Amino acid sequence: MADDESFEVTLVTPYGPRVIAARASEHLWDEAKRAGVNLPAICHQGRCLTCAGQLLAPGEFDPSDAVSYFPQDREAGYILLCTAKPRSSLRIRTHVQTEMRQYRLKCGLPAPYA
Ligand code: FES
Repeated sequence: MADDESFEVTLVTPYGPRVIAARASEHLWDEAKRAGVNLPAICHQGRCLTCAGQLLAPGEFDPSDAVSYFPQDREAGYILLCTAKPRSSLRIRTHVQTEMRQYRLKCGLPAPYA
């Protein structure tokens, strides 16, 4: 993978969809900000779930910079935008922190601020 490889990422926000180019070497939250899309965040460490998104179509990403990210999160399509790097084009619904916290609780997993 080239360092400068980038992917088309559609962020479906409550204010409408925004399409950005996201570099594979950067976190999606930072790439959104660079494109002028301000998303919620508190910890920026992949812990608090404030930045949560959910995939609307199949896609690949690297979540390994997150402090806390579980296989169950991946199965349900949840993505922590502050620490995830794109590995394919992505279509993501943003602002789903409440849903992700409820899902975590249902799974018996940590859900900060729930
Ligand atoms: S901002 Fe806390 S998990 Fe992303």
